[in-house]
Amino acid sequence: MNDQAARLIAAARAAARHAHAPYSNFAVGAAVLLTDGSVVTGANVENASYGLSLCAETVAIATASAAGRLGDVVAIGVIGGMMRDGIAHGEDVVRPCGRCRQVLNEAAQIGGRDLRVYCAGAEGDGLHEYLLSDLLPDAFGPADLGIGRAR
Ligand code: THU
Repeated sequence: MNDQAARLIAAARAAARHAHAPYSNFAVGAAVLLTDGSVVTGANVENASYGLSLCAETVAIATASAAGRLGDVVAIGVIGGMMRDGIAHGEDVVRPCGRCRQVLNEAAQIGGRDLRVYCAGAEGDGLHEYLLSDLLPDAFGPADLGIGRAR
């Protein structure tokens, strides 16, 4: 695992400890790397009205945006696993859902760069590395509306 991946996966695993996931019992953590080397994290926030639940990646991107850094996202690490005793477990690799891929595309096109996406399990050394453009090819995005740049 390269240093960037290891850092983001470790931060995502720490973030998953703050997941609010009493309905699915599935904790997800995400850690976004910004151009200045800082890292912003998020965890899933479920809701008693299930469909209103927010994914970890979306929370992390919203946090970066709230800090004025939507266009500065370089990479994201994502982990997830079933919770036991409040902590995510398991080695199965978790990848961003379709909606989160679209949310990530907003950051990618506003920043004018493709994003590296590191995916891992809650535990173990398994790692899958992608480019967002491979996870969401030919995306619709801000560039279609004359904003940002196609990537
Ligand atoms: N979840 C995420 O946080 N990110 C994803 O990319 C996939 C799913 C969350 C939503 C829900 O709280 C739980 O995982 C089970 O679907």
